Amino acid sequence: MINDLWYKNAIVYCLSVGTYMDANGDGVGDFEGLTRRLDYIQGLGVTTIWLMPFQPSPGRDNGYDISDYYGVDPRYGTLGDFVEFTHGCHQRGIRVIIDLVVNHTSDQHPWFLEARTNPESRYRDWYVWAKRKPANADQGVVFPGVQESTWTRDSTAKAWYFHRFYEFQPDLNTTNPHVQAEILKVMGFWLELGVSGFRMDAVPFVIATKGADVTAPVEQYDMLRTFREFLQWRRGDAIILAEANVLPKTDMEYFGHDGDRMHMMFNFQVNQTLFYALASSDTRPLAKALKATRPRPATGQWGLFLRNHDELDLGRLTRPQQKAVFDAFGPDKSMQLYDRGIRRRLAPMMQGDRRRLELATSLMMTLPGTPVFRYGDEIGMGDDLSLPERECARTPMQWSDEPHGGFTKSDTPAKPVISGGAYGFEHVNVARQRRDPGSLLNWTERLIRMRKELPEIGWGDFDIVATGTPAVLALRYDWRENSVLVVHNLCPEAREVHIDPGASGSHDGLLVNLLSDDHSRPDAKGRHRMLLEPYGYRWFRVGGLDYLLRRSEI
Ligand code: NOJ
Repeated sequence: MINDLWYKNAIVYCLSVGTYMDANGDGVGDFEGLTRRLDYIQGLGVTTIWLMPFQPSPGRDNGYDISDYYGVDPRYGTLGDFVEFTHGCHQRGIRVIIDLVVNHTSDQHPWFLEARTNPESRYRDWYVWAKRKPANADQGVVFPGVQESTWTRDSTAKAWYFHRFYEFQPDLNTTNPHVQAEILKVMGFWLELGVSGFRMDAVPFVIATKGADVTAPVEQYDMLRTFREFLQWRRGDAIILAEANVLPKTDMEYFGHDGDRMHMMFNFQVNQTLFYALASSDTRPLAKALKATRPRPATGQWGLFLRNHDELDLGRLTRPQQKAVFDAFGPDKSMQLYDRGIRRRLAPMMQGDRRRLELATSLMMTLPGTPVFRYGDEIGMGDDLSLPERECARTPMQWSDEPHGGFTKSDTPAKPVISGGAYGFEHVNVARQRRDPGSLLNWTERLIRMRKELPEIGWGDFDIVATGTPAVLALRYDWRENSVLVVHNLCPEAREVHIDPGASGSHDGLLVNLLSDDHSRPDAKGRHRMLLEPYGYRWFRVGGLDYLLRRSEI
């Protein structure tokens, strides 16, 4: 297969305009500010920006409650500013994907306002209604403890409407062909403005049957094919990255057995078992998840992430596994959310321990798939647990030690910048780390550069290589007669392992260390003895220096 599938070897960086950089000094990040920071993002080595929702919105769910799909929220700028931003990205060779939030609208969307006031309106059937309170109204809430029901009565409509998420997010009736056509229109609009695709929000709910009489929702996978066909007809290299926290046995329904549905999916199974492995030094459930999520079509790709803007959902782990992760990374109730997850940022979860931060990041970058960074993690930003729900991990980017971290000139930022303590902007900021060759920022940049030179990881097949201890995970990737071996010690103690990389093909058996001069030669039996420091990791190219000759064929 030729190398045109750009998302197979991409480095994705997720950010929200409102918390990145404020140019006009009103306390809210904006497109102008973000555009000014594109050189920073390019310098980091990012190839793709995932932009969180920026359309007009009452902002009650961080923009995931959209009131106009065809515009830019005035707090962030204008449509013109958006185009300047995408232009700036393209000049630097950076692609942009944006959130596509079409499971629901805001209750302030004109469609909903009309639907509730006028039963004859064409928009009435764009939502999901019931005359009486459905029997299952208390089931299936996504935000337990905050959201009480999935049906709410609207006194104007004199009916109940369905909302999978908060009550201000009425679900669209996605089986309605008019709604489906509108979803395509929304995609077409933003594609025309230069985006390379979408991170599609809440996909299992978008395609599920909805209604008062639906006791067991059924996913209508054909819808996914419709989205993809339209997308590729309009723009051949555009992609959809699906947010679908589903079981491995269902993955192929989302990718499509013929690779005709979603191009990418976030790997939630690996995400959760990875945190369990980091908490317990036991990589066996992670290895199992890697095997279970191995099947995917040749054009399909996993999105690998550590933390995102939501809670770290541990719902797929067993009770004892969950307990281990809570004990290690979120022992206090204030750190937990929705009875299933941890709401902290990565750095405080790892107790600011640089070795563990590097280990976790190195794993994310070398597990099968495409890494998805969360803004701020490259400098080890912290969280503000005094903020409600998931807001604690959505504080503004920390650029310098100027007031409000250089994020805004306003005295009253819309969201507070973390100040004081170990993670305050006074210590943790871009300006300081940029000057320090050994900083987390410069380490991340170096790792990203190396990761981009390893297309084997994004494109190749992987094998789990025996290490003799569950604390050490070794993976070998093979692609086009090249092999890469990555080894991670998840344990707080040093570990000695003996590894036979097992790569086929003709090579001298040398393992070329890609991050230091510490190369490894095999013993007479072809095995490598490695002494890994606590939380140590290694990236090797298998087969010595002659790979350089072969790489020129790529
Ligand atoms: C998933 C998003 O990641 C989350 O932040 C949001 O609250 C829900 N979908 C609803 O859109």
